[in-house]
Amino acid sequence: MALNKARLDRYLAQHCQVSRKRVRLILAQNRVLINGEIAHDADEIIDTFSHIIFDGQVIQDNPPYYIMLNKPIGVVSATRDTQHKTVIDLLSCSYKSELHIVGRLDLNTSGLVLMTNDSRWSERLTLPEKKVTKRYMVTLKNKLDEEYVQAFAKGMYFAFEDITTKPAKLTIISDYQAQVELIEGRYHQIKRMFGRFRNPVMALHRCAIGNLALDNNLAAGESRELTKLEVAGIDRGSTVFDL
Ligand code: URA
Repeated sequence: MALNKARLDRYLAQHCQVSRKRVRLILAQNRVLINGEIAHDADEIIDTFSHIIFDGQVIQDNPPYYIMLNKPIGVVSATRDTQHKTVIDLLSCSYKSELHIVGRLDLNTSGLVLMTNDSRWSERLTLPEKKVTKRYMVTLKNKLDEEYVQAFAKGMYFAFEDITTKPAKLTIISDYQAQVELIEGRYHQIKRMFGRFRNPVMALHRCAIGNLALDNNLAAGESRELTKLEVAGIDRGSTVFDL
């Protein structure tokens, strides 16, 4: 859902067929509630998700929705697909057709996928300049060594896009397992980065986005709504790793 902003007097004039002058009178008579509070200012800015009551009647009620899903392998991060089940197909909520995906995962990657109808929130999480960390657990075919850590931190040149990847943090967990933290999401980025070492990725799982870790209680294919605290705190504070 596109997030439209408007001045309150303009919105009320349009939706209640009254003049903007009359809106000022209506506001002075305490007849409008925005998100449960009496509205006084004609120039207050409201948006798609502001809950608006006028004379006891709800005139706008579009709640934002925030969902986390544990994506299984073989499910596509798209809203529709002719070949595969989509992440939206896995949801049972009535509002699923309103949702968009916040940062896709490849077909054969599992783990945390977020979905929402709040485009301002999803932008906050996906724009590279916001530097929100995405954390992955990677299982590799061949043994890892310290050289990988340096190469990921330095960044790698991708000729196809003509970009150098932003510094990424690789932590060796065991001979064949690493944790990787990225602040961007280039096409097949992790597989291509390990590809430089001719080391195929055998399994890739997203564990966290910003401060929000995938809920361990969700089996593959299961989802739940985020709490208000999770929604507000996902990109709060420094989520960027130190290199
Ligand atoms: N990097 C990849 O290669 N695939 C993903 O799904 C995510 C990051």
